[in-house]
Amino acid sequence: MKHPLDTDVLGEFLVSARSLAEYRAIFDLTDADLKGHRILDCPGGAASFTMEASALGARVTAADPIYSHPADRLCRLAISETDRGSDWATAHSDRYRWDWYGGPERHRAMRHSAAARFCADLTAHPERYIAAELPSLPFRDNSFDLVLSSHLLFTYADRLNADFHLTALLELSRVSAGETRLYPLVDHIGRHHDVLVEHLRKELLDKGIHSSLRETEYEFHHGAHTMLILHGD
Ligand SMILES: C[S@@+](CC[C@H](N)C(=O)[O-])C[C@H]1O[C@@H](n2cnc3c(N)ncnc32)[C@H](O)[C@@H]1O
Repeated sequence: MKHPLDTDVLGEFLVSARSLAEYRAIFDLTDADLKGHRILDCPGGAASFTMEASALGARVTAADPIYSHPADRLCRLAISETDRGSDWATAHSDRYRWDWYGGPERHRAMRHSAAARFCADLTAHPERYIAAELPSLPFRDNSFDLVLSSHLLFTYADRLNADFHLTALLELSRVSAGETRLYPLVDHIGRHHDVLVEHLRKELLDKGIHSSLRETEYEFHHGAHTMLILHGD
C-alpha cells in the first residue's frame, strides 16, 4: 500500500498553526502595523497570530470555516494537523529551506507551541474566532485596517480555480480599508503560479484595485519569497 506521505497531494486543506513570529516574517509586519489596528486573519487556521498580536494591542479577528466546531474538537484537530503538516514537511524536507526554523524538529516544536496558544485563546476569547468561508465573508465593507491571508489562495491552486481566487481576493479587499497581504504565491508542493498571479492582478486592476509584489524575509518553499499586496483606496 502507498504510504500517505509518499504522494504529492497533502489531502484536504491542512489546518496549520503559525505563530506571530512567522506572520511577522511572512508579511513583513512591524509593531506599528499591529498596535491599535483592526486586523483580519483569513484563514486563521490554528495560528496563534490572533492571540499574540492581540496581546500587543491589535484588534484581531480570525475567520475560518473550522471555527464552527466546538473548541475541544478544534484543539485536538490543531495538534493532529500540526503533526500531519510536520510529518509532510519532514518527509519532503528537500523542498524547503530550513534556515528560518533551524531544522524540522524546531519547526515541529514551534508549530506545537503555536497550536497550544491558539487553543488557550479559543477558550478565553471565542469572540475573536468567526466561522466564515471565502469567497463570502460576514463583515461590512472596510471593517479592517489590514487583512492577512496566508496558505489558502495559491497554496491550494490545484483545487481552487482562478475564478475562486478572483472572487476571494475581491472579497478580502472589500472588507479591508487598507492593505490586503497574501502569501505564499506558490502551491503546497512548491509550484510557482506566476501566470495566475498576473492574470489576477490584471483582473483586479480592471476593477480599480491596485496591487504590488514585495520581497519577504521569509522563504520556506524554495523561491517563495514574495507576497502580493492589494492596496486600499
Ligand atoms: C494551511 S491553513 C492556513 C492557516 C493560517 N493562515 C496559517 O498560515 O497557519 C489553511 C486553512 O484554510 C481554511 N480554509 C479552507 N477553505 C477555506 C475557505 N473557503 N475560506 C476560508 N478558509 C478556508 C482551512 O480550514 C485551514 O484552516
